[in-house]
Amino acid sequence: MCGIVGILGKKPVAPLIVDALKRLEYRGYDSAGVATVEGGKLDRLRAKGKLVNLEQRLDENPLSGTIGIGHTRWATHGAPTEENAHPHFSSNVAVVHNGIIENFKPLREELTEAGFSFASQTDTEVIAHMVCHGINQGLSPEKAVHECVKKLEGAFALAILFREHDDLMFGARNGPPLAIGHGEGELFLGSDAIALSPFTNKITYLDDGDWCKLERDGYTVYDIDGNEVSRETQTSVGASLMVDKGNYRHFMQKEIFEQPEVISHALVHYLDFAEGKVRDIEGQPFDFSDFERLSITACGTASYAGQVAKYWFERYARLPVDIDVASEFRYREIPLSPNGLALVISQSGETADTLASLRYCKQEGQKIGAIVNAKDSTIARESDAIFPILAGPEIGVASTKAFTCQLSVLAALAIQAGRKRGKLSQEQEEQLVQELSETPRLASEVLKLEEQIDNLARDLSHYKHVLFLGRDTNYPLAMEGALKLKETSYIHAEAYAAGELKHGPIALIDEEMPVVVIAPYDHIFEKTVSNMQEVAARGGKIILITDERGAKEAAMDGAQIIIMPDMPQIITPILYAIPLQLLSYYAALHLGTDVDQPRNLAKSVTVE
Ligand code: M6R
Repeated sequence: MCGIVGILGKKPVAPLIVDALKRLEYRGYDSAGVATVEGGKLDRLRAKGKLVNLEQRLDENPLSGTIGIGHTRWATHGAPTEENAHPHFSSNVAVVHNGIIENFKPLREELTEAGFSFASQTDTEVIAHMVCHGINQGLSPEKAVHECVKKLEGAFALAILFREHDDLMFGARNGPPLAIGHGEGELFLGSDAIALSPFTNKITYLDDGDWCKLERDGYTVYDIDGNEVSRETQTSVGASLMVDKGNYRHFMQKEIFEQPEVISHALVHYLDFAEGKVRDIEGQPFDFSDFERLSITACGTASYAGQVAKYWFERYARLPVDIDVASEFRYREIPLSPNGLALVISQSGETADTLASLRYCKQEGQKIGAIVNAKDSTIARESDAIFPILAGPEIGVASTKAFTCQLSVLAALAIQAGRKRGKLSQEQEEQLVQELSETPRLASEVLKLEEQIDNLARDLSHYKHVLFLGRDTNYPLAMEGALKLKETSYIHAEAYAAGELKHGPIALIDEEMPVVVIAPYDHIFEKTVSNMQEVAARGGKIILITDERGAKEAAMDGAQIIIMPDMPQIITPILYAIPLQLLSYYAALHLGTDVDQPRNLAKSVTVE
C-alpha cells in the first residue's frame, strides 16, 4: 500500500525523502512523488512506475528545500498515472495520503461548486482542496487541517505542507499507521519505523483520530476534538535493523533461507526444551482451558497458517476452531459466545480487514490474542495478548518466513492448549516439544533441495495453470503453494483438498495441467495416492512432494518427486512449505517477473 515520508530537516530533503521511500518499496507501489517548499514556493516531481524514474527526474531537475513530503502510491482511485501520483496540490497546500476517503464524492461536488477544479481522479485531491478552502476562508493552517480531518470518512494517514510555511508540517491518522520520528532539531513523518530508520529510531506512533503539528523545535499531537494529547515515544527495534539483501538476489530468496534461524528464534521463545514443555507466555492474560471455542481470522498467507492451526488445536487440544478470512468475517454478523477467545494472525499487524475483525471480536466481548511480526503495530496494540513470531522484517511481498514462524508459534500454542485443557499428558507434551525442536535443523536439510526445485520450476514455468492438492494440514498448505505461485510468477494456480478432486476439478486435468501433490507418508497417504492415480490416468503431470517411504509406496512412474527428509507429523506443514516457496521463487525467476514486488500487490494491505 501507499507509503508516506515527511522531513522537516536542515539540508535539502528531496534525496533523503527518496532514500526513505526506497525503504517503503516493499509495501508495493506503482508511482511516486516528492514535494518541497522553498522561498514561498511549492514544487513537486512525480513519476509513474518505480522510484528510479522519480530519481531520474530529480537528477534532471533537482528540488531544493529543507522541508518536504514524499509518497509511493498503490492505486485505488484512478489509474497509476503521473497525474494521479501524489503529492496532490491545491494552490497553497500539498498533501500525500495512504488510505481511502470514502466520502470523497460529495466532498468533490461541494468543492467543485466552491470553484475548485480537479486535476486527478484520486480521492486524495479533495483533501488538498479542503485545506486550501479553509485557508482561503481565513482559517489558520492548524484550524484548516483540523476542520478537514473532521470531515473525512474512511481510512487515512496524511502529511500536509503549506506554500507559505517552510517550518510547518501536519500529519493525521485514521487507520493506516503514521509515526513521528525525532531527530536533533529535525522532525520526520513516516508510514513505519523502517522508512525513518536512516534518520532516527525514536518514534511516536499516532493513535487513530490523532493529528499532529510539527515545527523544527517541537511537535504537538491532538485528538479529533482538538485536545492536546500525549503519545508515548519509543525506541524502535525495527529501525535499527538495516534491511538489505545481503548476498542474495532477492529479499524473497534471503527470507526463504533465513527460515532455520528465525524459526529457531521463535521456538526458543515459546518452548522450554530442558523441561520439555511450552512456556507460559509472559503477560498471557488467559488460559486456553477457559474457552470452549476459538475463532481465528486473518488474510492471505496468514489465513492459511490459521487453517493449519485449526487442525492442530482440534487434534491436540480438542478445542473447536472457527476460521474465516477477515474480509468475510468482519461483515458476517457472526454470533460469538460470551467470553470466547479470538486469535488474529498478521505479519504486518496493520491489515485493515484483520484489524476490523479484531475490533468486532472485542466489541462482542472476546479476549484477543495477536500472532504478529510487528510488535508495535496497531493489531498488537489493540490485543489482550501478543504472541510475537520473531521473524524479523519481512520485505518480500510474498510472505515466506512469516508463514513458517506463524506456524511454529501456533503449533506451540496448540500444544500449550492441549496441556491446559487436559488433553495431552506430560509425556505427550514432551514428545511434541521434542519434535518441534527438530524444525530448524530439518529446515536446513530441506533448503539443500534448492537445485532440484529450481529445475522443476523451470519446467513448471512453461505452463499456464497448475493445481495443488493436499489432505489434512497439507490442504491449507496446498492453498499457500497456489497463492505463492500466483503472486510471484502470475501462473494461474488453484488448490483443492485432494478428496474434492472427483467432485469437479478433475475435469480440468489433461497434459497441460501439472498437479503438485503434497503428501508426506502419513495416515491418509494411501487416499492421496488414489487421487494421484486418477490424475495420472488422465495424462496429468505430477510433481509429488513426499518422503522416502512415500516415494516408494506411491510408485508413481513418470511423477517428478521431491524427497523430503523424514520428520514427525506435527512439523510437516512448516517444512513442506519450503519447497513450495522455492518452486514459486524459481518459477518467477525463470519468467523474469518482479519477485520482491509483484505487480498489483502491496505488502501491507491497509485498506479494505
Ligand atoms: O500482514 P498480514 O499478514 O496481515 O498480510 C496478510 C496478507 O495480505 C498476506 O499474507 C498476503 O497474502 C501475502 N502477499 C502473501 O504472500
